[in-house]
Amino acid sequence: MSLGVVTADAHGSETRLRVCVLGATGTIGRAAVRALVRRGHAVVCFVRPGARARGSLTPADIAGLFDGARVKVVDPADPASLARDGFAGERFDAVVSCMASRTGAPKDAWAIDHRAHLNVLEAAKQAGVGHFVLLSAICVQKPLLAFQQAKLAFEAALIQSGVRYSIVRPTAFFKSLSGQIDRVRKGKPFLIFGDGTLTACKPIGDDDLAEFIADCLVDQDRWNRVLTIGGPGAAITPRQQGEFLFAELGREPKFKSVPVALLDVIIAILSVLARIAPPLAEKAELARIGRYYATESMLVLDPETGRYDADATPSTGTETLFDFYRSVLAGAEAPQRGDHAVF
Ligand SMILES: NC(=O)c1ccc[n+]([C@@H]2O[C@H](COP(=O)([O-])OP(=O)(O)OC[C@H]3O[C@@H](n4cnc5c(N)ncnc54)[C@H](OP(=O)(O)O)[C@@H]3O)[C@@H](O)[C@H]2O)c1
Repeated sequence: MSLGVVTADAHGSETRLRVCVLGATGTIGRAAVRALVRRGHAVVCFVRPGARARGSLTPADIAGLFDGARVKVVDPADPASLARDGFAGERFDAVVSCMASRTGAPKDAWAIDHRAHLNVLEAAKQAGVGHFVLLSAICVQKPLLAFQQAKLAFEAALIQSGVRYSIVRPTAFFKSLSGQIDRVRKGKPFLIFGDGTLTACKPIGDDDLAEFIADCLVDQDRWNRVLTIGGPGAAITPRQQGEFLFAELGREPKFKSVPVALLDVIIAILSVLARIAPPLAEKAELARIGRYYATESMLVLDPETGRYDADATPSTGTETLFDFYRSVLAGAEAPQRGDHAVF
């Protein structure tokens, strides 16, 4: 195992911390592990047994995902496993959690985003961990969905726990805005809700977000704070995303508008059918998630006006969504979009 060299933090001092990472196999978790290892921290990834990311991967493949970090197989849904297989008498300075339900469906969200996180917090307290960095989401500022309520409930528990916290609420990730690159490349129209300007966001790159998360450990301005964060540049609408892709490909822009009312009809039908076929309740919630992202901006919400405010949304990092689109169009691997994707 190589732990790298000790690096200077944002304040110029040298700090080498022992950090355990949950959700390390996810998109931001992997980037966070890289960022923490680059800073010279001693990183241990708690990976669940039967991890989805394992798929056809062997345990050795999983270990290989995290160059310079150790891996422990731990089930965060099981307090005994956290104590026995995870913290296990080891000293950690901090927990960084990028763990989240893969689907956002209510049962899964309450089990992972809330319950499993409570287990981790309790085990971390027992183990004397001093700092808990939580990856949350900007959309919890307007919590209409079960997964947002589950996240908020854990945020509240963390804030009240007495453990130092940094709660990071980022805007949209690049992967969530990349689902149509292939369609456009194949000559199909870019799908938009309404006229494509119903929403906007300041997308944030995986590595830029990971740097922000890693800095929470050493930047005292980020201690005991809820931190909303977006990427660099101006806010971007879905129409602008489409226009950029067509321009890069040298093609005439071609859009197909999907009415939001169509989602309302789907939600209504699924909700009624769920009364006789309960598994459809989950599908109805996934459709509600789709509707939410089709109509709500991933920007700071002004509680006075009820309007989203791009200028009030802080920015970090250097990589823009358009840099990322360019690299995918030039042949870089397209991201795995996960289960929340609408298009
Ligand atoms: N997508 C966006 O645009 C966006 C924007 C803002 C905020 N966010 C938030 O950012 C967070 C992380 O997103 P992401 O895209 O990095 O997530 P992701 O790729 O889906 O990764 C989720 C991580 O949680 C782990 N996990 C899921 N269920 C688990 C379970 N039952 N037990 C143990 N571990 C479990 C996964 O492990 P396995 O590999 O074993 O499944 C994986 O490591 C989420 O809270 C999301 O809401 C997303």
